[in-house]
Amino acid sequence: MKNIMVTGGAGFIGSAFVRRMVQKYPDFRIVVFDKMTYAGNLDNLLPVKDSSNFAFVQGDIADREVVRGALEQYGIDTVVNFAAETHVDRSILSPDAFIFSNVVGVHILLESALKHKIERFVHVSTDEVYGDVEEGFSVETDPFAPNSPYAASKAGGDLMVRAYHITHGMNTVVTRGSNTYGPYHYPEKLIPFFVTEALDDRPLPVYGDGKQVRDWLHVEDHAGGVETVLMKGVAGEAYNVAGENLQYNIDVTHRILKLLGKPESLIKHVPDREGHDRRYAMNCDKLRALGWQRDYNFDSGLEATVGWYKANEWWWRKIKTGEYLEYYKQQYAARLAAVQG
Ligand code: DAU
Repeated sequence: MKNIMVTGGAGFIGSAFVRRMVQKYPDFRIVVFDKMTYAGNLDNLLPVKDSSNFAFVQGDIADREVVRGALEQYGIDTVVNFAAETHVDRSILSPDAFIFSNVVGVHILLESALKHKIERFVHVSTDEVYGDVEEGFSVETDPFAPNSPYAASKAGGDLMVRAYHITHGMNTVVTRGSNTYGPYHYPEKLIPFFVTEALDDRPLPVYGDGKQVRDWLHVEDHAGGVETVLMKGVAGEAYNVAGENLQYNIDVTHRILKLLGKPESLIKHVPDREGHDRRYAMNCDKLRALGWQRDYNFDSGLEATVGWYKANEWWWRKIKTGEYLEYYKQQYAARLAAVQG
């Protein structure tokens, strides 16, 4: 296993995986393949961009020719697929891109991998495929019940990977991660959005009562989970990567405000996200049995993350312009107006 193509490697979790692999395995060549959509960011790769075992190709996983070219040019033997449209709210506003990347894109990547005789195909999926988990913890064999266009598109990709293992005997493994946080997180997601808004004394739009539960996992622990599955996962299997750290959104919001020394009056309870899942929770014993363990706890992990956003305004201020502001208006203007009168 020497030439690894990391699709979506300029995004949040993908780039954390790339930074880890480039530094930890100097004998592996890590080739980032990224479409560079709004969420892809070469700044995320600055710490490794000059490493001799790093290469970058701009391309879409749904573009057969470009994928084939990259697989051939770099003699790729392993694919790790992080490429995806990932934001639930955007999937409600404009679902098309989610089907193209997360279903059609995964299908074309699998077809290309099959033709190229890829030795190992790792697919990064999500806990959202299990849907709303009112109580208990999802295990890998639970049925899928996705509730948003995003989650349904990820379920489609996840099932295509399963099909290529069963139909073609492809050496595939799947990871299903929980809500991830940490540095370089695009500021549309709860934690980086609220941290950067609060820094500017702007309102924090909490959907509904804020009593939805998410399981927070540090991005380094998520990347470590994908690494473990790449190295040790059994072909055809899926592995949950969980934070085992269930939190109400409203509690996370209070913690952020406290860490920043900002007033609770910034909190605005706005009309809820449509089809909003109340709770995600997974069991990750199967991954632990491969030797994976987490290095971060939420208290210090969140504090360090908030510190990172305070220290790295250069990274997020240039994101919060242009298309981002258009999206903000579409997603939040009416919601905030509804509660601000
Ligand atoms: O569970 C894993 C998933 O976590 C990933 O598969 C997704 O790609 C990722 O986006 C994330 O999905 P969520 O919808 O849980 O993440 P998000 O950060 O959008 O929201 C977290 C919670 O916070 C959710 O209950 C909605 C709520 N929220 C979010 C935003 C952006 C708010 O109350 N207000 C907001 O403005």
